[in-house]
Amino acid sequence: MRIAVLGGDGTGPEVVAEGLKVLKAVAQKVGFTYETKEFSLSGDRYLAAGGDPKVQNIPVIHDHEVAELRTFDAIYLGAIGHPKVAPGILEKGLLLRLRFELDQYINLRPVKLYPGVWTPLKDKGPDEIDFIVVRENTEGLYSGMGGVQFKGTPHEVATQVLCDTRMGVERAIRYAFEVCRKRNRKKRLTLVGKTNVLTFAHGLWYRTFMEIGEEYPEIEKDYNHVDACCMWFVKNPEYYDTIVTDNMFGDIITDLGAMIQGGMGVAAGGNLNPQGVSMFEPIGGSAPKYTGMNVINPIAAISAMGMLLRETGNHQSNAKWIQAGDLVELAVTATTPKMKSQAAGKMGFSTTEVGDLVAAAI
Ligand code: IPM
Ligand code: MN
Repeated sequence: MRIAVLGGDGTGPEVVAEGLKVLKAVAQKVGFTYETKEFSLSGDRYLAAGGDPKVQNIPVIHDHEVAELRTFDAIYLGAIGHPKVAPGILEKGLLLRLRFELDQYINLRPVKLYPGVWTPLKDKGPDEIDFIVVRENTEGLYSGMGGVQFKGTPHEVATQVLCDTRMGVERAIRYAFEVCRKRNRKKRLTLVGKTNVLTFAHGLWYRTFMEIGEEYPEIEKDYNHVDACCMWFVKNPEYYDTIVTDNMFGDIITDLGAMIQGGMGVAAGGNLNPQGVSMFEPIGGSAPKYTGMNVINPIAAISAMGMLLRETGNHQSNAKWIQAGDLVELAVTATTPKMKSQAAGKMGFSTTEVGDLVAAAI
């Protein structure tokens, strides 16, 4: 397995190092070899190369680097975001660019409460909080279409186009039905949208969902408006099995999901192109204030490594990689009960010690 490693900004490199530690342990255990190559892509590099902190003037990632990334089996990303660089430059210049150009059309985000992890939801435990969100990852409000006119005047006009296509919606929905079928839990797929307001775009989602759903008679086809979904996440998270939703709503509800599963230190995600190169990341940010202190929680990054192994194994039909991914997940499950908290600086262990615990559990 060849893995491109993008530590990125802030605490990204620290958590990625722990994921690689666990990779080493699990590769030995299961018996496969791998190679990693580090790419120094970050806000610091952008600034050092003469990047303007306010408006993007040079590439954050070069064309030849994107081309090289296409040759790997998977990409492992730490975090992107720099306090001195204006919002949007690194996000659009690196993260969104890779999602779009590598056509990583699924963002897979499990919301799973591990044993011993505190949740702010009273009377809910690991049995109640265990669902998965399939977020469409290349369209919707993230399409980048729109613009401003008469900027800075009282007549300023701003448009931001929600662009959905039948092809994009259909492939996300189909992927979600397959995830739901494999999970074998409640056999319920919930489409989350806003069909009462976004009548055009989410009308397309709803019609496509019902149509594709006919191919999956054993799966319950369920629909929630996004606002109601936020309510149920808090009140009845056990209701959910698999959720499919558009890019923007998927972004928002998975932060809420991250909180009920114990915080940003725990939540992992995969940007998937099942036919191409996928990218895995902890979904929390670069946490600049904790950089270099050995206090940030690496569990999310380690789980992301588990997803990297399992999903890349699934896409390439490699049983050892799948087994390795499952082992990482088990090792995380064995480690979280030993930790005092999942919050940075309160874990009862340092970043590197948590990585050691998971590697030992392997
Ligand atoms: C995420 C992040 C990104 C997103 C940002 C950094 C562009 O919030 O991965 O959820 O909105 O998709
Ligand atoms: Mn987000």
